[in-house]
Amino acid sequence: VSVEPPAAVPRRRAVSRRAVLSGAAAVAAGALAGGGVVEATPWKSKPGRPASPSEPSFYGATQAGVATPPPAHQQLIALDLTTSSRGDLRSLFTRWTSAAAALTAGQQLTGSADASAPPADSGETLRRPAASLTLTFGIGPGVFDERFGLAALRPAGLAPIPPMKGDQLDPTRSGGDLIVLACAEDQLVTFHAVRELANLAREAATPRWSQSGFGATAAFHGTTTPRNLFGQKDGTANPQPGTLDFDPTVWVQPGDEPSWMTGGSYLALRRIRMNLAAWDTTAANHQDAVLGRAKDSGAPLSGGTEFSAPDFGDRTSTGATAIAADAHIRLANPAFTGGAEMLRRGYSFDDGYLADGTRDAGLMFAAFVRDIPAQFTPVLANLTEHDAMHAFLTHTASAVFAILPGTTAGGYLGQTLLA
Ligand code: HEM
Repeated sequence: VSVEPPAAVPRRRAVSRRAVLSGAAAVAAGALAGGGVVEATPWKSKPGRPASPSEPSFYGATQAGVATPPPAHQQLIALDLTTSSRGDLRSLFTRWTSAAAALTAGQQLTGSADASAPPADSGETLRRPAASLTLTFGIGPGVFDERFGLAALRPAGLAPIPPMKGDQLDPTRSGGDLIVLACAEDQLVTFHAVRELANLAREAATPRWSQSGFGATAAFHGTTTPRNLFGQKDGTANPQPGTLDFDPTVWVQPGDEPSWMTGGSYLALRRIRMNLAAWDTTAANHQDAVLGRAKDSGAPLSGGTEFSAPDFGDRTSTGATAIAADAHIRLANPAFTGGAEMLRRGYSFDDGYLADGTRDAGLMFAAFVRDIPAQFTPVLANLTEHDAMHAFLTHTASAVFAILPGTTAGGYLGQTLLA
């Protein structure tokens, strides 16, 4: 493990957000949504029910749910396609786009008025607000196999994550052809959205796995960094939306290949069990050393406050480096990973106790990047080999997805690939 940062850390070329926007705007000028659209009407009982001005917008050059602040609850669902027709895939995304626009605006799905037919909406969120619901859609590597004739358009940035030492991956919780990320301040709202979207997929796809997660509500954490199940402030060093670094780290840029992904992103997911029993019996100063930051303030052990830059060369009076050689923030820092940066937007999970009495709780780790093999895989490999935190973790599932570019009214998600 090297302790001194290299003299110059390669940085990615900054590409302006305007360039991304104009690329995706061209995309959005495409075909209109086809048949099978689920019509949605705003609430009649309460005029003004549609999303408040602070609610994330569903339409845009990029999808919501990545750069938008994470609300308290998340429900993920991965599905496998049961069709091999590209037309079926197109009509699924047409249905999903229309339904997602309605759901994120706090509307119910509407269909036939015939009371002898099943209702178009299950109704559990009837007359409830959208609760900052975002719905984010992606496709897995399987979409580029022989079934749909799309192999030539497969992005290199979607390369699968190779097996890592100590992985205990459960295939039934890993992978998938499609992913939907539902995030909201209300768990009933995320549940409902995923339920309806799975219903709309019935003829083309079957659920493979789902995962619910939780964090801090926006009202609670405000501008402070939320904490993970080890009690640590988690997200401090994330690139911040609106800064120069953010877009070229997270969004596929004009000029990147394949061009249909411009305005999209790649999602690396790892379901990581955290050994809470071992952590809770670990000395406080060792807990801090494992991370390289003080738990309470979130400041790096080289000093300062939460947002002070870590000084990896700083030494204590005993001559040891203040931030240990195997500290998580050293090994994950771009200075030691060839400049790789990522947006981390994970959620804690708690799936109760296993038969052996251990708790199945941890972090559904999620990284959004512009290229998985360049920005995510080398960091994971470095952490797997050297990270002191790794002794407290077990990776139990893994998946990668291409997060589709955004769309505008009249278009549909996936249009740049499927039109
Ligand atoms: C359960 C597992 C994990 C926990 C509890 C965890 C926790 C943390 C915490 C508390 C920080 C410091 C605060 C911050 O900057 O957010 C951090 C930083 C970071 N983590 Fe993790 N992490 C985990 C897994 C991972 C994985 C799997 C990766 C990537 C493969 C990763 C990449 C990073 C990066 C890039 C940073 C920022 C480093 C820097 O530039 O300072 N972490 N993590």
